[in-house]
Amino acid sequence: MESPFKPDILKGKVALLTGGASGIGFEISTHFGKHGASIAVMGRRKTVVDSAVSSLQSLGIPAVGFAGDVRKQEDAKRVIESTVKHFGKLDILVNAAAGNFLVSPEDLSPNGFRTVMDIDSVGTFTMCHEALNYLKKGGPGRSSDDSGGMILNISATLHYTASWYQIHVAAAKAAVDALTRNLALEWGTDYDIRVNGIAPGPIGDTPGMRKLGPDEIKSKTREMMPLYKLGEKWDIAVAALYLASSAGKYVNGMTLVVDGGLWLSRPRHLPKEEVKALSRVVEKRARSAPIGVPKSKL
Ligand code: COA
Repeated sequence: MESPFKPDILKGKVALLTGGASGIGFEISTHFGKHGASIAVMGRRKTVVDSAVSSLQSLGIPAVGFAGDVRKQEDAKRVIESTVKHFGKLDILVNAAAGNFLVSPEDLSPNGFRTVMDIDSVGTFTMCHEALNYLKKGGPGRSSDDSGGMILNISATLHYTASWYQIHVAAAKAAVDALTRNLALEWGTDYDIRVNGIAPGPIGDTPGMRKLGPDEIKSKTREMMPLYKLGEKWDIAVAALYLASSAGKYVNGMTLVVDGGLWLSRPRHLPKEEVKALSRVVEKRARSAPIGVPKSKL
């Protein structure tokens, strides 16, 4: 789909995306690049990173890739420093690297829980921590009239209520949202850095969806969704463009839910026709009931 934004809204910006070589992360890399940004992608698998960089370059996007694991502080430091060495500065950090699998709490080992916390929550903090020096106002490579940079954390809606078989990811993403708000407060105040998040719903054609919503359960999920369809990677990428561009310059500490309203969905406990037929009757009955008379006696 065409972008609704002008092609130069990220002109001159340098963005580093963890998990930026596949799925939603790669879609954001591509859209940021098509809107003028230079792109660095970080991922664990070198072949995946290399192929993403080739695809970006074939679109004329200045791109570079680094293999690394967000769980390793030395990898985070090396990749951020290499990005700045290559492009001269860093404006935008997108934390899109994540780990996930379906499992019930009793079948999840503490190490399995810790693994996802390490990737999603600690990994996000580690990347932010190592990037601060470059993102802050007046940081290396930033001109004196540049504002501070921007951090975008990819989250989820799993922890807004509760989610079956996702206790580890719900806990990890709750922590990510706390990072978003706390860094927005502290680094917004001290360093002029904006920190926001996006909470995607189920997005089609992604590694996450293939793992968490295989075809066997997809049709059942769709019955519960307000818009009756999966989201597209495009939906997340244009939300990211909004937040990263000057259009989002006054948005800080916000996690934007992009899920078609799915997290609000509840089973319909009464058909609409029954509500029409019943509601006036029930109201009339309630009004005419003498105070103190139990309903069962009416
Ligand atoms: N069910 C239950 N436990 C699982 C599991 C599953 N499907 N997959 C992994 N684990 C547990 C392992 O058993 C292990 O715990 P243990 O040592 O107590 O046995 C722990 O998690 C770590 O597993 P390991 O395979 O060593 O971790 P890894 O670092 O190689 O991989 C994962 C990390 C597990 C998160 C892996 O799924 C991954 O690499 N994911 C990245 C891609 C992804 O998930 N994308 C979707 C984003 S929405």
